[in-house]
Amino acid sequence: MPPALEEDASIDTLRESARTCRRCPLWRDATQTVFGEGPPRADIIFVGEQPGDREDLAGKPFVGPAGDIFDAILEEAGLDRARVYVTNAVKHFKFQPRGKRRIHSKPNVGEMRACHWWLAKELKIVKPRLAVALGATAAHSLIGKPIAVTRLRGETMTRDDGLPVFITIHPSFILRIRDPADRRAERRRFLADLVAVGKAAASSVASIRR
Ligand code: URA
Repeated sequence: MPPALEEDASIDTLRESARTCRRCPLWRDATQTVFGEGPPRADIIFVGEQPGDREDLAGKPFVGPAGDIFDAILEEAGLDRARVYVTNAVKHFKFQPRGKRRIHSKPNVGEMRACHWWLAKELKIVKPRLAVALGATAAHSLIGKPIAVTRLRGETMTRDDGLPVFITIHPSFILRIRDPADRRAERRRFLADLVAVGKAAASSVASIRR
């Protein structure tokens, strides 16, 4: 178990503490904890599912194929990755070995709940005005119950603590679409979602400053 954290711990202390996390068994096979990244205070927090193979090796979230498409669309939407906080619901890579490859395996609810401890702390420190759930695991972790992403995509749900959570797909969903026209259409929808995120974050900042 990592040492107890002070109530007013910084994001760097939290990240350091998460390096030795044993809250669930996923640490055993993973290379390292992949903690969130971004400014210690940010208006928007993006939450993915869990690190993939590349993220596990690099120790950084969204730096593999899903990260490439996420970065590209974020930029097209006019959002600067350096100004948003990016993290995952689960901070260790879960996989099945297949020959030399490590195949992504979806985290279960127990693993997601165990790791929610870290996400809750990140939210407390980063104090975002808007959270974006990238896919079902992130939405479940942020809202505290299973969310039908296909039905609620593009909608904003408000948590008990008042934090608005924008629901959208995980960018890896776009990568899995085989048909080029369908893939382009889904990419456009994701771009529209991120444009809406930018507008929602800007208007919440404006309403608070007014
Ligand atoms: N998928 C995620 O959900 N998070 C990452 O960091 C990378 C891929």
